[in-house]
Amino acid sequence: MIGRSEEYEKMFRLEGQLWWYRSLHERVEKALQNRFGQRRDITILDAGCGTGGLLDFLRRQGYTNLRGLDGSTDAVTFCRERNLSVTFVNLNELTSFEPDGQYDAIICNDVFCYFTANELPPLVSALARRLRTNGILVTNNNAFKLFRGEHDVAVGIIRRFVLADFKPVCADNGLHIHLATYWSFVLSPLILLVRQWQRLQLALGWHKPEEAQSDVYLPHPLVNETLYRLVRAEQTLIRRTPFGSSLFMVMSR
Ligand SMILES: C[S@@+](CC[C@H](N)C(=O)[O-])C[C@H]1O[C@@H](n2cnc3c(N)ncnc32)[C@H](O)[C@@H]1O
Repeated sequence: MIGRSEEYEKMFRLEGQLWWYRSLHERVEKALQNRFGQRRDITILDAGCGTGGLLDFLRRQGYTNLRGLDGSTDAVTFCRERNLSVTFVNLNELTSFEPDGQYDAIICNDVFCYFTANELPPLVSALARRLRTNGILVTNNNAFKLFRGEHDVAVGIIRRFVLADFKPVCADNGLHIHLATYWSFVLSPLILLVRQWQRLQLALGWHKPEEAQSDVYLPHPLVNETLYRLVRAEQTLIRRTPFGSSLFMVMSR
């Protein structure tokens, strides 16, 4: 992903509108409210914050103590355009960055997929150490290999997860998993069909990997709004769902 400027430009332009980002941002805010109620002064770190869509959303919800880190100069530049407090940091070197930093909430969405099995435990450990007592780590990640498709190729995703991948690393770092839910359950048959079709096209050489497109594009407004409402209804009605292309988790120390 790092170095693919066009992906950051699309993210920056669309993350406020696209159904998927809107649903995820609301899910994160709900996790913050469940833990901290109406407090808006909690210290929040978005690790691997991309172009700052989530930080911008949280700022509009009244959160005042927001900080971001990212290892892409494109991402940091876009965040600064939004006047967000974001620092260029390689998360592989988080241990040497701000060793005394302490946060009530650390959010790390769709970042772990860029870390190998050896790199992930030190990252989770470094994030856990930066949590205050009773702080939470909120993380969304790509789930189930079955859902691998053109998006993964386009943005260089190296792995997909299931809950069992996180259990040992959480236990090793004193992290208790409060919530783990795959989403979107309701859209999963459709997403699965599309992704499997994409894989077939790649396997048969009908699509070239270098021409793969990410899912970051705006569909027709009616489609975008329908998908957003379906996912929001799912989120409101069912706390945990068993299957979907993403795994959303909330952990505490
Ligand atoms: C798929 S984007 C997700 C961005 C944001 N968290 C969101 O939910 O929109 C992954 C982000 O992780 C960042 N990233 C990947 N590897 C990183 C590393 N080693 N250090 C810092 N940031 C990294 C990328 O620059 C990118 O902004």
